[in-house]
Amino acid sequence: MKDLKGKVAVVTGAASGIGLSLARACAAEGMRVVMADVEGEALERAAREIAETGSETLAVTVDVSSEAEVRRLAERTTERFGAAHLLFCNAGVGAGSLLWASTAKDWEWTLGVNLWGTVHAVNAFVPAMLARGEEGRVVITSSDAGLVGGPFNGVYRVSKHALTAYAETLHHELTVVGAKVGVSLLCPGFTKTRICDAGRNRPERLKNEPGEAANIPTQGFDDFIRAQVDRGVSAEEVASETLKAVREGRFYVITDPGTYEGVRRRMEDILDGRTPAFEIPRE
Ligand SMILES: NC(=O)c1ccc[n+]([C@@H]2O[C@H](COP(=O)([O-])OP(=O)(O)OC[C@H]3O[C@@H](n4cnc5c(N)ncnc54)[C@H](O)[C@@H]3O)[C@@H](O)[C@H]2O)c1
Repeated sequence: MKDLKGKVAVVTGAASGIGLSLARACAAEGMRVVMADVEGEALERAAREIAETGSETLAVTVDVSSEAEVRRLAERTTERFGAAHLLFCNAGVGAGSLLWASTAKDWEWTLGVNLWGTVHAVNAFVPAMLARGEEGRVVITSSDAGLVGGPFNGVYRVSKHALTAYAETLHHELTVVGAKVGVSLLCPGFTKTRICDAGRNRPERLKNEPGEAANIPTQGFDDFIRAQVDRGVSAEEVASETLKAVREGRFYVITDPGTYEGVRRRMEDILDGRTPAFEIPRE
């Protein structure tokens, strides 16, 4: 997709972080932007800010883990703008502890938003995008954690590996049917956003009761991740690299050069029959 002006972008998780920066970047390209997020007030604020720059926006409060709500998002998009051209499946959260101490609720919430949110969005938008026969693109936000292995963050890591497989398969299938809709897989490294405070949007019914989650200390790891996120690249840089990839028709969008080393090591482990190793990062 080279010419973005006047086209319609749909961004999930648009109230904060990478999603908000993607929405701003799309608006700056002259796109009309549908902004979807579960955090209603933050979303209204974000949409107002972008509308004030003269862009046409539509803000829809949506829990992407709900198929019905995502279908409604697609209907609202069609009612307002007639079509969608660029679909960013970006909303994401992370929860859980060591794998054997992560609860069914940790899994349900994380997979519900990260994986099912993407499944629902593709099902709700892509058939209509294909039927119109126009050029389009689906951008799925995975993570460097969706390309490499390691300890901790297991629930999140599994959800992101699933998204990598999902995006690669979607790309192959759209190619096989000769579609004008392409796919990009966004795998950011640490990015300065509110991802470490994802629990702010966790629904009551999926919160662990006191004592429900085994109390295994991973605090050192959580603090390490928070420090890395605070020191990460800006969400604006990630959004800018993503739109560049959309223009170039590039599939993999890697924002941290260190990711390549992790991918290489993982592939060599597989090819050489080596057991995966992991070095605990030291501050
Ligand atoms: N920040 C990083 O270091 C990093 C690294 C790799 C990948 N990512 C991925 O980037 C994506 C964006 O996250 P971010 O870092 O900008 O974090 P963020 O918390 O700043 O933004 C995430 C947005 O998703 C929204 N959201 C959460 N649950 C939702 C739901 N059920 N329905 C709709 N919206 C929901 C939140 O309200 C928030 O606005 C996520 O998929 C995340 O996994 C982030």
